[in-house]
Amino acid sequence: MNTKDKENKQNIKKVKAKLTKKEFSRFVVPSLTLARKRLIKDTPVINFNLDDKLKGFGLGKFYLMKTYGCQGNLADSEKMAGILEAMGYQETQDDSVADVIIFNTCAIRENAENRVFGELGRIKNLKTIKKDLLMIICGCMSQEEKVVNMIASKYPQVDIVIGTHNIALLGEYIYEAYTKNSRIIEVFSKEGEIYEEVPMKRASSRRAWVNIMYGCDEFCTYCIVPYTRGKERSRHPQEVIDEVKELVKEGYVDITLLGQNVNAYGKDFVDIKYSFANLLEDLSKTGIPRIRYTTSHPRDLDLETIKVMGKYPNIMPHLHLPVQSGSNTVLKRMNRKYTKEEYLEKVSWLREYVPGISLTTDIIVGFPNESDEDFLETLDLVEKAGFEGAFTFIYSKREGTPAASFPDSISDEVKKERLLQLNEKINEGFLKGNLRFENQILDVLVEGYSEKDPTMLTGYTPHEKLVNFEGTSDLIGKVVKVKIIKAYSWHLRGELV
Ligand code: 5AD
Ligand code: SF4
Repeated sequence: MNTKDKENKQNIKKVKAKLTKKEFSRFVVPSLTLARKRLIKDTPVINFNLDDKLKGFGLGKFYLMKTYGCQGNLADSEKMAGILEAMGYQETQDDSVADVIIFNTCAIRENAENRVFGELGRIKNLKTIKKDLLMIICGCMSQEEKVVNMIASKYPQVDIVIGTHNIALLGEYIYEAYTKNSRIIEVFSKEGEIYEEVPMKRASSRRAWVNIMYGCDEFCTYCIVPYTRGKERSRHPQEVIDEVKELVKEGYVDITLLGQNVNAYGKDFVDIKYSFANLLEDLSKTGIPRIRYTTSHPRDLDLETIKVMGKYPNIMPHLHLPVQSGSNTVLKRMNRKYTKEEYLEKVSWLREYVPGISLTTDIIVGFPNESDEDFLETLDLVEKAGFEGAFTFIYSKREGTPAASFPDSISDEVKKERLLQLNEKINEGFLKGNLRFENQILDVLVEGYSEKDPTMLTGYTPHEKLVNFEGTSDLIGKVVKVKIIKAYSWHLRGELV
């Protein structure tokens, strides 16, 4: 070992010793048992306000945001970025420059969690270079007591752990951790409230996420989300409509309404009667060129919503409708509250009222004791529903959820084999769904240059199909007409008309 290496090693030791000694100024750990409770009828609404002491606190400093998981997390990251920029921080992608690194985490499957722990280990030594670097963990993993206890005891490089319910207070926590030179763990397991007027730094100037509700009350037996995100709570329609009107003014083209189960929107209102179909209809009248929504629950998706989709051309003809399984036995054990036949009936409504609609889905294979027959039912459903894409997963056991204690005698090999078989079928649907657009002229919202081929522009059609074509940078952000010359499994190749 040379002198420089020795010196480095000593430095690391010193910093580690110092980190381990840091006191906690707050220590509130979550509980999955408490997080299961659903007692509050009327959700409190809080208007965000940035305290004077935080304004300018981040001037000359940089933050780096690492986001894992679903669109809900992407939207939360845009809010946290908005708060940090209101404090004066600037964004960086370079972890050696960052003063604050935030991991916005996902708990949906075990491998998502392992990725975060791997990354935490990798960047541990950054603290030897930058002593006052703040490392922050937030998102769904923070809501698990097992994870938080592990971070508290084994990951002294993490300064702040906050949950999904208090991201709006990010600035306060950063201020306290710096000024008191302390560690903070503050994760609430409450049903949750709604924060309005949180500043947002949106990642795109043309496509935007719009949260319409938070939380989930479905309690599918495999899923951790109802515990990590709290009770279903809908934003007031006027707040959503005003946000979309503002996006129209700013030149946004394509918005996606977000919620864990958007079809349950409004069911929690105590003072008004207003449904997801009402909201969709009102938003389509704002003049926004493209509206999408995700995620839908097949049980709550109603005919009224489907009819509204068919009525307004600015509601896009694409729907992600997670089915999870095609077996009625498995669906029952998953607590999905619909049958294969009911799902297919909704698919037929969609095809009737929104001709040419493209449907995608989520499917889990290897749910505890899923039999060969159950799996064949899933393959059959995929065939019948005509999906043009899917996210497919092997079931991952989530501690604290009911399915974690279900007996399971299916081997990992069988589960992997099923996933391969399923993916083959899904890929056929993907290609078939793309082939139908060959020789057609489509409207493409240009996103930028393709990462895979930087000579090509890339963008999305109304059916959410990815199109690559040659063109100049002035087209980025515009909707252009593109003729499709060839369909591939994962994208379409086109020519500017
Ligand atoms: N194991 C595997 N997949 C899961 N999903 C949710 N929980 C689990 C789990 N425990 C999948 C579902 C859901 C998508 C977001 O993630 O298919 O629709
Ligand atoms: Fe999880 Fe089911 Fe809620 Fe979706 S609807 S977030 S799968 S519990």
